[in-house]
Amino acid sequence: MSHDKEMFDELEGLALEQAQKMYSATVIDHFQNPRNYGELPDADCYTYMSGICGDTIGIYVGLTDGRIGRIGFVTNGCGPTIACSSALTCLANGLTVAEARSLSSAQLIAYLDGLPLENTHCADLAVNTLKGALAKIE
Ligand code: FES
Repeated sequence: MSHDKEMFDELEGLALEQAQKMYSATVIDHFQNPRNYGELPDADCYTYMSGICGDTIGIYVGLTDGRIGRIGFVTNGCGPTIACSSALTCLANGLTVAEARSLSSAQLIAYLDGLPLENTHCADLAVNTLKGALAKIE
């Protein structure tokens, strides 16, 4: 093992230790293992939105019999943005369009077992992006 690799592992360990003080295990899990990452080339609808911080989320939705059968996201955002987007795709998958349209930031934050106040706008951005994508469906 090289000195650089050891140093990187040490830094990563520190970052994780820091993150564990601020974020729930669910947030860290979705950040480290994002679900449904990627564009859907044959999506029925999609949209991109940017938040007040400049982060952008794209959400792609594929419908099967009026329900969300496939869903994907992309983002250039921070860890909490990745976690919010990933968790939202899990929450929305299988819902009807009407049910998915009524998802709220509070539901997403509860699903993530909480978010620090300074990151609640990441949840707002994810939810608004999904609503923006679904608004393109008649
Ligand atoms: Fe802005 Fe996450 S920091 S969306």
